[in-house]
Amino acid sequence: PKPFETTPAVKMKSYACQRRTPLKHHNSFLTDALEILAQNAEFSENEGRSVAFRRSASVLKALPHVVRSMGDLKDLPCLGEHSLRVIKEILEDGTSSEVESTRQSEQFQAMKALTDVFGVGVRTADRWFREGLRSPLDLIPTGQKLNHAQQAGVKYYNDLNTPVTKKEAMVISDIVEKAVKAVLPGAIITLTGGFRRGKELGHDVDFLITHPEEGAEERLMPKIVNWLDNQGLLLYQKTTRNSYLESKDGPARPASNMDRFERCFSIFKLEQLESDTHTETSSYNSGRAAGTEERHAGSTWRAVRVDLVVSPYSQFAFATLGWTGSKLFERELRRWAGQEKGMSLSSHALYDSKQQRYLRANSEEEIFAHLGLEYIPPSERNA
Ligand code: CTP
Ligand code: MN
Ligand code: MN
Ligand code: MN
Repeated sequence: PKPFETTPAVKMKSYACQRRTPLKHHNSFLTDALEILAQNAEFSENEGRSVAFRRSASVLKALPHVVRSMGDLKDLPCLGEHSLRVIKEILEDGTSSEVESTRQSEQFQAMKALTDVFGVGVRTADRWFREGLRSPLDLIPTGQKLNHAQQAGVKYYNDLNTPVTKKEAMVISDIVEKAVKAVLPGAIITLTGGFRRGKELGHDVDFLITHPEEGAEERLMPKIVNWLDNQGLLLYQKTTRNSYLESKDGPARPASNMDRFERCFSIFKLEQLESDTHTETSSYNSGRAAGTEERHAGSTWRAVRVDLVVSPYSQFAFATLGWTGSKLFERELRRWAGQEKGMSLSSHALYDSKQQRYLRANSEEEIFAHLGLEYIPPSERNA
């Protein structure tokens, strides 16, 4: 074999929802770098630039081989001039100066530390940065006004920035299952988000809840929350009512990408798993600079972010697709629907503008079929 031969070109479709993107891929050394630049663009609220870097990274995640030379990138879609420059630098020098200086910049590090607080978005973090704050620890002496979410975010900063394991996700699944079944027998609970895509670790655990009898799910969340709270399982929760029916802007075209389901953003108080209490408990609190509430080393619980969403049965397939992610995969599905099919996709429905009607679906497979896409299973939606 010729040693410098480039890998044969791979036919790569240009929308991420047309491709299979496994969780484990061959080019993290490049995608991590591009995603730093994407995140930095988000910090400066430059969405277009951020999406461009994320799309580039996503193409590399779908490649079945390691990129060794620029020739390997021939004919690949979505790779812009800037991304190519960064990739070239990394292939030649091992690192990109732009990525490294971004990573080390005071602004990037501060924005990262501040947005890592639950309840803190880019706008707030940026304001705090301009006021001189650099880490969550700075929030306390300055007496910043914090809302309830942010107060919880600061209080449980260490725990919430300790990845949730699959094992912990399974324990939480059992708890949620028990809570939901207690208040609405016959309800169906689906694990969504990253864990449904096969991730080993997550920043939270996401669930979608429905009931085969349409309407039985109405106003379900307060009952679930009550049950959990009575068991002492909640450290924080914010429930938002379903606003889909009241919306005036049409079901498939919500004002933002945010859906209108009844939802609860919560923080669970999770008893430590037996196997973790001895070996790992101390690592949750030690050696981390930003913790604001010290827990005793022998603490038997930890805080975990949990998202609960309730969907009517008729929208369940759309909700499942919408809440499984990845975020880029979702964005690409909506872009495909709009630009290529003249359709409008949300987590509630799919509207066909040409036929001027909603297309029904009882499964994710049917939605892909409506969209003229090959079905991609959750484990290959890691775009
Ligand atoms: N999502 C959404 N509306 C929100 C928040 C999230 O529709 N307000 C969707 C996202 O589009 C994504 C899914 O919910 O498809 C899960 O989001 P998230 O939990 O943020 O990310 P994960 O992919 O689960 O990854 P992580 O491990 O970081 O939680
Ligand atoms: Mn945040
Ligand atoms: Mn998640
Ligand atoms: Mn989530």
